[in-house]
Amino acid sequence: MMTLLILLVFMNLDLFMKTGHCTELRDQVFSITTETQEQVEVLRNLSTQYEAALWQPVSPEYIKEETPVHLYVPANSSEMVKNLLQQHGMTHEILLANAGELIELQMKNVSTDPRSGSTFYEKYHSLEDIYSWVNRTAHDNPSTVKAILVGSSFEKRPLYALKLSLNNRPNKKAMWIDCGIHAREWISPAFCLSFVHHLLSFYKQIQDITDILDNMDVYVLPVLNPDGYEYTWTKDRLWRKNRSRNRSTNCIGVDLNRNFDANWCTEGASHNPCSEIYCGAFPESEPESQAVADFLRHHKDSIHLYISIHSYSQMLLFPYSCTTDEAENHSDLLEIAKEASDNIRRHYRNNYLYGSGAKTIYLAPGGSDDWAYNLGIKYSFTLELQDRGRYGFLLPPSKIDRACKEALTAVKTVALKVIEKT
Ligand code: ARG
Ligand code: ZN
Repeated sequence: MMTLLILLVFMNLDLFMKTGHCTELRDQVFSITTETQEQVEVLRNLSTQYEAALWQPVSPEYIKEETPVHLYVPANSSEMVKNLLQQHGMTHEILLANAGELIELQMKNVSTDPRSGSTFYEKYHSLEDIYSWVNRTAHDNPSTVKAILVGSSFEKRPLYALKLSLNNRPNKKAMWIDCGIHAREWISPAFCLSFVHHLLSFYKQIQDITDILDNMDVYVLPVLNPDGYEYTWTKDRLWRKNRSRNRSTNCIGVDLNRNFDANWCTEGASHNPCSEIYCGAFPESEPESQAVADFLRHHKDSIHLYISIHSYSQMLLFPYSCTTDEAENHSDLLEIAKEASDNIRRHYRNNYLYGSGAKTIYLAPGGSDDWAYNLGIKYSFTLELQDRGRYGFLLPPSKIDRACKEALTAVKTVALKVIEKT
């Protein structure tokens, strides 16, 4: 009888924790589905107020009926947001009940803790750590790896790309891969680091890695948007854009993946500096996008493959995103993307959608992939890594390893195909 009573008390406490005031003290992520146009309008408004941060879709104008919206709701707005949802008959599911805790967990691993058991490549790293890693990697592999300064950011941080060149074959092809164009997508730089590590560790050990490096030089830019990345570590974990300032407005930052010269700032991007998809004042107005564009222009004859790494949604996209027109080698790109996706499914039983950007997600002009494609790099991809919204941008460190393995499978598949085809 007594135990039953105690049990009952605990159960009630538990209930209280879930529904009562305790949850109100936490940052949460909601998944909200709308049914009517009125609800869509309410949600569009709401997502720009109460310090709520829209995770999905990328910008309020893309909210539409029947499509789940992922919204980060800070603890102090939780009550307001819930009331508003209720008033307008919207239900929500809690994706993350304690986002603050997850964020803390991700930053804990800054310096390698020997007791934690996970390796350097299974953790997220601060910008400073990534800069030392770049230096160390070049320094430890003097005959095969070079750090190339390709430019600097708005806040004057250096943009270093590593060049991996494992043999001296003449007229070698090359591939370019960049990570971290969007600041909050932490799994992206984590992949670039693990990718370099994998290539250097398994050359002459694993056949496909050897084949790739025998036939291609590999350029890797681990953090395309260092100012934004630093900002996500110090001020706002969910920052997306770069950190450029403009006299005409108080809003900061340009979406670097809307700043390239590919149907620049047409439908799918915004002229509003406060928007998450602000295209900037003109194409390549930003030092980061200009640096990458300049580098690719100078090396376009050797670079046969361009890959840009993002998260989240698990997709392999190819041109075009800036128009619904088909790319001239669409069937080629489709075949390659399908093979990559099939390989991921076979090895890891995980699904990656694939297709042209405009038809698979949304019109999004000014992207680096479309621009590189129009420059003449006919194999151009954007890879969106894990997950599909469970953790979203806050993918826990314990999932880094698997996410990187899946991405590695895709990148290897694509690279080998390009070697075969060009
Ligand atoms: N989620 C990415 C973005 O919004 C998708 C990029 C696809 N490519 C593109 N050119 N828009 O930037
Ligand atoms: Zn992105």
